[in-house]
This record gives sequence, C-alpha cells and structure tokens, in this order.
Amino acid sequence: MIPDKAPKENVYHGSEELKKEAHIPTFEKYKELYLKSVDSPEEFWGDIAKDFFWKTKHSGQFLDYNFDVTKGQIFIKCMEGATTNICYNLLDRNVHERKLGDKVAFYWEGNEPGDELTVTYRELLQRVCQFANVLKSQGVKKGDRVSIYMPMVVELVVAMLACVRIGAVHSIVFAGFSAESLCERIMDSQCSLLITADGFYRGDKLINLKVLADEAMQKCKDKGFPMEKCIMLKHLSKEAEESPQSPPAKRACPDLQVPWNPEVDLCWHTLLRGSSVECEPEWCESEDPLFILYTSGSTGKPKGVLHTVSGYMLYTATTFKLVFDHQPDDIYWCTADIGWITGHSYITYGPLANGATSVLFEGLPTYPDVSRMWEIVDKYHVTKFYTAPTAIRMLMKFGSEPVQKYKRESLKVLGTVGEPINPEAWQWYYNVVGEKRCPIVDTFWQTETGGHVMTPLPAATPMKPGSATFPFFGVVPAILNESGEELEGPGEGYLVFKQPWPGVMRTVFGNHQRFETVYFKKFPGYYVTGDGCRRDKDGYYWITGRIDDMLNVSGHLLSTAEVESALVEHEAVAEAAVVGRPHPVKGESLYCFVTLTDGVTYNRTLEAELKKQVREKIGAIATPDYIQDAPGLPKTRSGKIMRRLLRKIACNERDLGDVSTLADSTVIEQLFQNRCGAAV
Ligand code: PRX
Repeated sequence: MIPDKAPKENVYHGSEELKKEAHIPTFEKYKELYLKSVDSPEEFWGDIAKDFFWKTKHSGQFLDYNFDVTKGQIFIKCMEGATTNICYNLLDRNVHERKLGDKVAFYWEGNEPGDELTVTYRELLQRVCQFANVLKSQGVKKGDRVSIYMPMVVELVVAMLACVRIGAVHSIVFAGFSAESLCERIMDSQCSLLITADGFYRGDKLINLKVLADEAMQKCKDKGFPMEKCIMLKHLSKEAEESPQSPPAKRACPDLQVPWNPEVDLCWHTLLRGSSVECEPEWCESEDPLFILYTSGSTGKPKGVLHTVSGYMLYTATTFKLVFDHQPDDIYWCTADIGWITGHSYITYGPLANGATSVLFEGLPTYPDVSRMWEIVDKYHVTKFYTAPTAIRMLMKFGSEPVQKYKRESLKVLGTVGEPINPEAWQWYYNVVGEKRCPIVDTFWQTETGGHVMTPLPAATPMKPGSATFPFFGVVPAILNESGEELEGPGEGYLVFKQPWPGVMRTVFGNHQRFETVYFKKFPGYYVTGDGCRRDKDGYYWITGRIDDMLNVSGHLLSTAEVESALVEHEAVAEAAVVGRPHPVKGESLYCFVTLTDGVTYNRTLEAELKKQVREKIGAIATPDYIQDAPGLPKTRSGKIMRRLLRKIACNERDLGDVSTLADSTVIEQLFQNRCGAAV
C-alpha cells in the first residue's frame, strides 16, 4: 500500500539539516515503522506508552475493537485496565521527572501587541492545581461535565487541565459561537457548571462574552435546564489589572458589559484566593471520558464527539512529536483556537505532553496589520508553525512584502490543517513564508480522529503540493467505490479507515446509535470519514473534500441543514436550501436559496435580517455570503431538493448534466437569472 521507494520527480524534500536531527529521517524508516505499527500495534504503542506515567499497568489487549456493525456494537478500547491522569503526565511528570519546571510552557501574546505573559511548566502546574481545588470546592466531581466558553487566554488551558486533574469532562465551546449554540451544547452534555470570561477583543471588535453566556444560561433555564453556577474570569474588566497573573490592560473598556447574577455567578479571582497549589490527581481508567467536543452533523444537530483518556494522550503526544519533528529547543506555534479540535490536540495536549514551549495567541493575523504573524514568529523565534489554508490564502492577497518585513530565519517546519490546500497557496507558503527551506506538513484529520491521520513527516516524506501524502502510524486507509469495494492502485472514491488507532473517538455523547449510523453503517467494517479521496500512481492520497451535506468554510465544518433550519425559523422564509460555492480565501462560501412565504417580498432589509438570524443562531462563522430569492426550488418528482443543480446555479455553470428527474424545469432559468454575485 505504501510504495517501497519514494518518487523522485515533482516532489519536494525536507532539508538535509532537518534530516540530521529528525526522529524519522527517511522514507524507508517511515515505512519500516509504519509496518510495525500496523502489524504489531501492541509493540509499537507499548514502547511509546513506556514514556508515560501509569498508576496501574494495562492488562489484556492493547487495542480491542469491533469496527463491523454487522457483528454487533461498535467499540474501541485502548489499554484497558490501566489507570493514569493526563494532567499529571502533561505537568507533574514534566516538572518533577523531566526537570522542566523552569521551561516556558506558553508565551501568551494578547490581541494587542505588547500584551504578553510567560508561563512556565511549574507555574502552570500550580495554577491548574489551584483551580482544580476551586472546582472541587464547587462540588465538581469525577465524570461531571463542565462547559468552558473562553477566549484564548492561559486561563482557558488552566480550566481545561483543572477538569482533567479531577476527572471531570470538559466541553469547550468556541467563543465565536452564539448563545443559542452554547445553550444547545450545555444541555446536550448536561453540564453542571459554566466557565467563561467577561469579554475579549478580536482585533478592534469587543466581544461581550458574559452577555452571551448569560443569554445562553437564560435559554437553558427556559428549556428546563437551569445552570446553577457560572465562574467568570475578569480578563478585560478592572480587577484583572490587580491580579498579578493577568497582563496589563492597556485599554479602557467603556463598552464592556458585565451582567452579574449573585445567585449563579462566581468570580474566578475571588475563588482562587487561598486555594492550595497542591491537588492530588484523580486516577482515571484508560477508557474514562476525557472531553466532549461538538462538531457539525449532517442532520443539523451537532454531535458531541467523545474522546477518552489513554488512547488520546498517546496519540496526540506521538503525532505532535513526529509530525512537527519536535525537538527540545523548539518554539512551536499553532494559530488555531482551543475551541476547535486543532487547539485541543495541538495547543494543549500534544505539545504539553512533549514538554514543548508554545506561543498562545489571542489575536488575529490581520490585526493591527497583516504582518502580525511574522512579527510574532520573529519575536519568539518560532521554529514550527501550524496554520490553516484559509489564513494563508488571505495573507497571500497582500503579497510578499508584509512577510518579508520580517526575517523568519527561525522557521523549520510549516504545517496546515482544516481543508485541502490548493497548490498555489502551498507554493506561496513554501516559497515566500518558508523560503524553500521548510517542509510543509499538510495534515488531514478530523475532530473524530483525535489527531493527524494522513500526513507527511517533515524529513521523511517527499511532498507533493496539495497532497496529505500517507497514513500516520497505526492508520490503515482505503478508498471505496459506491458499492463499497476497495480500490487498488490509482483511483478516487470514499476515504475510509479499516482499523482503529488509539486516538479515534469512542462514541457520540449520549447517542451511541448515531455514532454507529454516521460513521459505520454506510460501509460495514470501515470507519467512514465523509471525505472523498484520490490515490495517484505513486500511492499518494489527495483529499478531494466532503461528500456529504457538509460545507467547509475557512476550515470550519458546517452542515447545510443547520444553516437551513436557522433560516426557516424566520417567519418570512418558507423553505431554504444552502450550498457551497468556491471562495478564493475561505475555500467555500455559503450560498443560500430562500423561498419566501406568500405575500412577502424580498429586499435588503430582509436579507440583513436573515444574515443576522443565522449569526445569532449559530455564530459569525455561519453568516451567509449570498442569499438568493428563490420563488421555486428544483425538486425531484418525489419532492427532494436537487442540491447538485443549486450548486451549479450558484457557480453559474450551465452544464447541468442529467435533469430528467426534475419535476418542474422552469424554475431553473428563473434561478439563473436571479443569481447573486459575479461568476466564479
Ligand atoms: O473535510 C476534511 C477537512 O476538515 C474535516 C474535519 O473538520 P473538523 O472535524 O472540524 O476538524 C478540522 C481540524 C482537524 C475533514 O473531514 N480537512 C481537515 N484537514 C484537512 C481537510 N481536508 C483536506 N486536507 C486537510 N489537511
């Protein structure tokens, strides 16, 4: 499956210098270890597990599983019988055993240049223990769910690891999500406590986070799920200036609103006073839940992806170490938000498990100007840099000058994640940002996979721009055709995986049946990713994008159903259909067709209301780019909307293919005439 020899033509190689120190220096070494990881997972992962602390050792099989729905329930178990604590492995082990107490864990860089903080491993451990004691004093116990809705501050890492320390399950909700989305997630995961902050700045825009948190709590209450407690960090408000651990608040915040309900709200800083810096970790079973993270589902209702303790720890630690070829003196920077899986696995868990030093950035790549990223790279001497194709495409628009204002000499490896990277963006990243010196790791993975599953290794894998190349250790991909047959050699079809790896999700929280239906029913015996994939003659894998009703906007998955239901909740909308239209920066943009209720006419005010409605229901990332008045939608005779045709209309492509199943073909011309925006 993996070629014996790497191709020699039309590929890019990591530098000789990188190969000298690399953990996996050659393609041959990769192949040898890959075969071991698949043939003897026990031995492969067992060696890795030796580096971690186990309170009790595992008994039984290393990986036990059923991936075939026709043979019974789907299950995945890794290292059953072992007990450990991830927080202990990330912090105590690094401070005490590996003597990294004085090493910097995070350089925090605020939204405003000049707002900065440094946190060492020892300090982080103390702060986590203190906050873990606070959680305990508020009655949080092992297995309880805690919702976290915070900006990119060190306290977000503190809150998540404090949960982990006491065996509580965190459910982090990206702070760009709406109150409605937060409420839905709090209720689905039955959280007993919410942790939030007063507010934060994204560029020059103030986000009144506590106002949103309060709205969410009110909605929960209205739906019969009253939240009893909410801990609020004062990140922007005055008290933060008095806290030695907070950065100087350089700006006054006259518009900051901090609603306060003494019956529910608790102040982070007050609770910490007098809290001990020691806290015995709760020893957890390997398969105890670690966290829940919601991802869009094609039915419109988000899925609570559940990850468990030991497998996720081993997998994120190993992928981080090998994919970024982590070395002790690296300064690593992942620009994602911790509210997404990339931030969970590659800002918190993977880097800390390796004792890495990371940059934790609160701001935006464009604020105060489009050089900000490269300024930060030079400021901290970043060696390994990980971002999304959408950010690269956006910065590319401004040309090379803002990049070349800074030296970037420290950079060694560049990474991308979240969506396919088009070869043009890849070339710009490689030539301009990395100056042809830095390999690019195009990492394909999902919230569900826990960590990278298809990816180059920087020194070992010859790269092809736009290809996620080959599987990571322990991962066995296949490409299936519509009838579920595995394709051999070059071909295109459904990307599936044939066996689990330690970090794969275990269930959809509270709905195991949905887990089986979504990922395992279509092709029994395989985990179905929902992505299309092509394999070329050299055996390289090329992800071609989603093949279900999901859209990928700026690297974030959205379900069309979710946006459609937000639109039809407006009284003026009778029916809605949403499709993706290619976008030069965001990858895909949201193109919405709406059929209005009788008597309503379409105008700019209604359009603005509809956009606002979606933003408020889901969040700013789901704001429609285009809304088209559609008096009729193309449907089959059985009433199914033909999205395939709507996609063509959105892109002004006249070649519609087979339209024989269309009930009323006159709607098509009308829709073409009313199209929004220029042709793409
Ligand atoms: O469609 C694939 C795309 O992002 C989806 C997973 O989204 P999410 O769970 O939000 O996690 C994003 C961060 C891991 C995938 O099903 N995707 C992610 N990385 C890539 C990608 N598509 C192509 N190439 C990638 N490197």
